[in-house]
Parts: sequence; C-alpha cells; structure tokens
Amino acid sequence: MSIRISTGIPGLDQLVGGGFEVSSIILLSGGPGTGKTTFCLQFLYHGATKGENGLYISFEETEDDLIRDARNFGWDLEDLIKKKKLVIKHYSPFEYDKFKEELTSLLKLHNVKRLVIDSISGLGFYLENKYEFRKRIWELSREVKNAGCTAIFTSEIPAEKGYSRFGVEEFIADGLIVLHFGGLGGEFDRSLQVVKMRRTNHKKGLFPFKITQKGVRVYPRSG
Ligand SMILES: Nc1ncnc2c1ncn2[C@@H]1O[C@H](COP(=O)(O)OP(=O)(O)O)[C@@H](O)[C@H]1O
Ligand SMILES: [Mg+2]
Repeated sequence: MSIRISTGIPGLDQLVGGGFEVSSIILLSGGPGTGKTTFCLQFLYHGATKGENGLYISFEETEDDLIRDARNFGWDLEDLIKKKKLVIKHYSPFEYDKFKEELTSLLKLHNVKRLVIDSISGLGFYLENKYEFRKRIWELSREVKNAGCTAIFTSEIPAEKGYSRFGVEEFIADGLIVLHFGGLGGEFDRSLQVVKMRRTNHKKGLFPFKITQKGVRVYPRSG
C-alpha cells in the first residue's frame, strides 16, 4: 500500500484512491483561467496548515500576486510564510540555472513535503528542442522524488489541444489531471478529468467542479 496525502480539494481524494501518492508528480493542465493556480494554492495551503511544509515555485505570478489570489479565498499565506511553513519563489523563465541551484537547498532547508511548479512551461518555452526540455523535467522529477516531495507541475494548454504545452510533460508525470471549461452543461461551467494516475484505480470521465469563495471543489457523484 502506498502512502497517500489529501489533495486538499474537496471531492477529489475519492477520485484518486484516497489522495496523491507521496513522492509522485502530478501534471495539472488546462487553458488559461481554468483554475490551475487556485488548485495549487489550495494544495499547499491545506498541507501547510496540517504540518506539511510547502514550496511554491512560480514562473508566472509574483509572490505578492499569489498572496493576493489566496486572500481572495480566505487563505492567509503571509502567516504561513512567517511561520516557515510555506515559501514562495518567483523566477523569470530565463532564470532556470538560478532556480535549479536554489531548489536543492530550498527543499532541504525547509523540509518541503509539497511542491508546486507553476508553470512547467516556464522551464523551456525558449528552448529550441524538446529533448532538452524533456531532460530538464526528467532531472527535476528525480530530484523532487528523491527529496520525498509530492509535486504538482502545471502546464498551460492552448484551449483543448492535447494535454500539455510541449506534448512531453504527461509522459514523465505519475498523474495527469486536466481542467476544462464547460463539458457538462447545466449549472456547471467547469469540469475536471483524471486522465492518468499511476498505481491508482482512479475514476475516469469528466467530473463537475467549481471555483467558489472557498476555492476549488469537485463533485464526484454527479459525474
Ligand atoms: N472568488 C471567486 N469565486 C469564483 N471564481 C473565482 C473566484 N476567484 C477567482 N475565480 C475564478 O478563477 C479564475 C482564475 O483561476 P486561476 O487559478 O488563476 O487559473 P489558471 O491558473 O488556470 O489560469 C478566474 O478567472 C475566475 O474565473
Ligand atoms: Mg495560473
């Protein structure tokens, strides 16, 4: 039996065998505005309030932006940062080397259990070939797993085209969750799909989900 941790997203644990497997990498993909960043903030916030330290690596929004995003859902990140339960680091996509160097020590120094990289596209959008990008993700995955972290990498996809920006990320990840706009009709304008989850008898199909004042929530039975 593998050890699992709660995703922190109401309704999602039961779709993925009780939670994410410890030391696994989940790719979270979807178009702009589908809720990737919110999902990640919620995953880290939930962990940090339960004693699992988090690290948010952002290649997009700044630390201040993320703190504001979270406050919108009632999550006080500044308090967690003060208590050293959460670290947020913002890099430009051209600071790969700096990011890579700092990551190793950050993981150790802060005893990080939950990691987010938002987005993984930031690691390679300027690279000419897929091979180099794939190598970077592969090395990163190894380091993260060796450190005993459970990680979410986000990937922004142009509306409904494949599962990831470069078409290689999903092969390296243990799990793949895709967020969609629409798909179900009725009162739900968003849906979530667990496409892949290694070593897990996960639920298939599209499940409705919502972003509310309290964050992301999935509705497993109505799917
Ligand atoms: N308080 C709220 N209630 C409902 N929906 C919200 C709220 N705050 C943000 N949203 C929705 O979340 C979206 C932003 O999601 P985000 O996680 O930043 O997406 P992504 O990272 O995939 O681009 C907004 O465009 C908006 O539709
Ligand atoms: Mg985002």
